[in-house]
Amino acid sequence: MRQSIMTTRSRRWFLRLGAAWSAALVACRSKTAPPGAEPRALGASVSAYGSRSRFNRAARLVNTNTRVPLEEAASFTPLRDTYGIITPSSLHFERHHAGVPEIDPATHTLTIHGLVDRPLAFTVDDLKRLPSVSRIHFLECSGNSLSEWRRPGESARSDVQRIHGLTSCSEWTGVPVSLLLRECSVDPKATWVLAEGADACKMTRSIPMKKMLDDALAVYAQNGEPLRPEQGYPLRLLLPGWEGNSNVKWLRRLKAMDQPAMSREETSKYTDLMPDGTARQFTFDMEAKSIITRPSGGDTLAGPGLYEITGIAWSGRGTIARVEITIDGGATWTPAELQTPVLPRAHTRFRWRWQWDGRDALIASRCTDDTGYTQPPLADLIAIRGRNSMYHNNGIQMWKVAADGTITNANRA
Ligand code: CO
Repeated sequence: MRQSIMTTRSRRWFLRLGAAWSAALVACRSKTAPPGAEPRALGASVSAYGSRSRFNRAARLVNTNTRVPLEEAASFTPLRDTYGIITPSSLHFERHHAGVPEIDPATHTLTIHGLVDRPLAFTVDDLKRLPSVSRIHFLECSGNSLSEWRRPGESARSDVQRIHGLTSCSEWTGVPVSLLLRECSVDPKATWVLAEGADACKMTRSIPMKKMLDDALAVYAQNGEPLRPEQGYPLRLLLPGWEGNSNVKWLRRLKAMDQPAMSREETSKYTDLMPDGTARQFTFDMEAKSIITRPSGGDTLAGPGLYEITGIAWSGRGTIARVEITIDGGATWTPAELQTPVLPRAHTRFRWRWQWDGRDALIASRCTDDTGYTQPPLADLIAIRGRNSMYHNNGIQMWKVAADGTITNANRA
C-alpha cells in the first residue's frame, strides 16, 4: 500500500517536468531505492545559533602541502558546491598575511588623519550610528587562478575549487568612506589614502582618493551578521570590483596623502611582471571572468543525456551583459541564461542545457561585461602578459569531458 502511494507521487512529479528533463531522469528513476525510514522520534530542540547538517561536507580547501605557514596562506571556496550568487560566510575564501587577529570591537577604532583639516577616530559603535548601505559584491584575490599562468600540463587533474576558489560573493553592510572623509574635511591636495589593517603585519595598501569617494565602504557586516574574523572583524575596507588585497581587513587607519606610500604589498607583491621585465603597478580592477562550476574538473558524467551546465560570471568594471557556452573548444558559442538579479560587481549565476552525445567535448564559458569587454582565451592572455605573472588571470577555463564521462582541466589540451 505504502509503496504504491510513493510510486504514484514520484510519477506525478516526473510528469510535471518537461519532456527533455524527463528523459534525462529515466536513469535516476530506474535506480530508485525504497525510501529511507522517516524519523519516528523527536528531533533536536531549537538552538541559539544554527549549524548545518552533518551530511553536508562542503568545505574550504586548505592546502597544507606547502612550506608557507598557514597564517599567511589561503583557503579556497568550494565553488562547485555552492549555489546561487551568495557565498556562505563560513565558506568565503581566506588570504591572510599574519594570521587572523582577535579584536575586541569595544576597543577597536578607525583613525582618519594625514592631509585632513580635522583628524577623527571612530569607534565601531560610532560607525554603526551613521547612515548605512548594504550591497552585494564579489571579492576576488588577484592571485586567483594563478596555477594557469605556468607549469603546463601539471594541473590537468585540478578542479574548480583549487584553480579558481579565491573568489566569493557576499552582501556587505557598512558606511560609505566618502561620508567619513567629508567629516574630516580632506585637503584637496590629497589624491591617495593609505589603508592599514590591525593584523600583526599592519598590512597596508595605497588607494586612489577617487575610489574612496566613488564607492568604497567601511564594512562591519556580511550576509546579515557581523563580519567573520577571517573577513576582517570588526571592520574592513570594501572596494567594489578591486583586487582582494586592497580591501584591507581589520581596518584601523586611513591616511590622506598626496602620493602612494609604495608599501611592500604594492611594490614587491601585487604587481604584474611583464615579458619585458617591467612591472605593472596599481592594477586594481578585476577584469570580467566566468567559470563553469558544475560539471567541472573531477566530476564524472553518468552517460549521454541532458545536463545542466552552471557557473558564475563577474566583472570588476561593471555588470555582466552576456555569458556564452562552447562545447567544441571555442569554435562555436551559444548564449547561456543569466539568473536575476544581475548586479554590478557581483557574481552572476548562469545556466545552460546540454544534450551530451557521449563523445569527447571541450566545454567552457566566456562572459562580456557592460563596458563591451569580453573574457579572453587563456592563450591570448598569455601572449600579451607572458608567464611571469602571478596575478589577474581571467582567461577562459576549458574543461575536457572524455567519452567515459570523466572531466579534467583542459586549459592546455
Ligand atoms: Co593588481
